[in-house]
Amino acid sequence: MDAAALRIRFLDQVNNCPWPYALLLSLGVLTFARFTFKTLVVFLQTFILSGTNLKKFGAKKGAWAVVTGASDGIGREFAIQLGSAGFNVLLVARNSKMLNDVAVEIATRTKSAVETKIYLIDFTQNDDLKYNDLKALLQTLDIGVLVNNVGKSHTMPTYFAETMEQENADIVAINVNATIRITHAVLPGMVQRKRGLILNLGSFAGLVPSPMLATYSGTKAFLATFTSALADEVRSHGIVVQHLNTYFVVSKMSNIRRTSALIPSPASYVRACLSKIGFSCGAALTGRPDTLTAFWSHALVDYAMHVVGLKTQFIVYTHSLHKDIRRRALRKLEREAKKE
Ligand SMILES: NC(=O)c1ccc[n+]([C@@H]2O[C@H](COP(=O)([O-])OP(=O)(O)OC[C@H]3O[C@@H](n4cnc5c(N)ncnc54)[C@H](OP(=O)(O)O)[C@@H]3O)[C@@H](O)[C@H]2O)c1
Repeated sequence: MDAAALRIRFLDQVNNCPWPYALLLSLGVLTFARFTFKTLVVFLQTFILSGTNLKKFGAKKGAWAVVTGASDGIGREFAIQLGSAGFNVLLVARNSKMLNDVAVEIATRTKSAVETKIYLIDFTQNDDLKYNDLKALLQTLDIGVLVNNVGKSHTMPTYFAETMEQENADIVAINVNATIRITHAVLPGMVQRKRGLILNLGSFAGLVPSPMLATYSGTKAFLATFTSALADEVRSHGIVVQHLNTYFVVSKMSNIRRTSALIPSPASYVRACLSKIGFSCGAALTGRPDTLTAFWSHALVDYAMHVVGLKTQFIVYTHSLHKDIRRRALRKLEREAKKE
């Protein structure tokens, strides 16, 4: 049957039974239009448009940025780039020498135009005195930006039943408790000033449940949901809360040293995040309005995963990947033990 005959047959059927066909046709057109529009948003936000200017959150006006886990990796870069953008920076982590180095780097890059402070804390201790001390310090500062960056994963992929209790407790203390407590300490000031930006460092492990990293994966999923709930509570106060959905980045935690198209340096990754504030980029297709998948290749992966669907298959793939990583990690440990 040629195209003209097909068209005539289709129109005949529409005329004979217009209501169901019209409904199906409208649904099809609406779905296609919605998909096309969201795809356009993903590409425009990821590759062309610029996000909210950091001046909205007090850059160059004496406001502070607080960065947890600021001594290394992604947190170190957030601290440096927020300093360069004109925020005073409060650096939070355990290693005072490394935090001092970050403070010196910020002073050098900004020609001492911004101030820095250091607060030493080990989040695994859940120490109320240290938290109260930090809260008192936070209340003295005009905080424009909070980056809840500190994070811990499992030493290597391991089945949950075999994971050390202490490791699970530390992951929850760092990834969940620290975020809740510091956000709670900072938020009243932001509400009062009617401005603020809170960034919570998430992971694709929170998007795709990750067998053999169950506790880490669960804490990152918590951050995504916590962010969405909080974002809506404080939107009317001029406060932006975003969950940064992150694939791999070169760092000590990822144990990856070389950059590639899929794995940026912390500097490139943070630059992408800070230039896309208020957007969703790769997460625009997924209906997660307060999640931002900022780095271009991470955005494309997020987009593609949602076009493909098949979440179960991603979980199965992640499981087999983690089995393989564990096998290789154990072999490496064996080799090292033999050398000693
Ligand atoms: N790198 C990736 O591929 C990747 C992917 C997805 C998500 N993420 C997320 O990105 C965030 C940063 O990761 P990263 O790769 O930059 O990690 P990283 O290079 O290992 O840095 C971790 C930072 O957290 C601090 N820290 C660790 N344990 C701490 C504790 N008990 N108390 C206080 N501070 C502590 C460390 O400083 P001290 O040792 O000085 O305390 C360091 O500054 C994490 O939330 C991670 O889950 C990373």
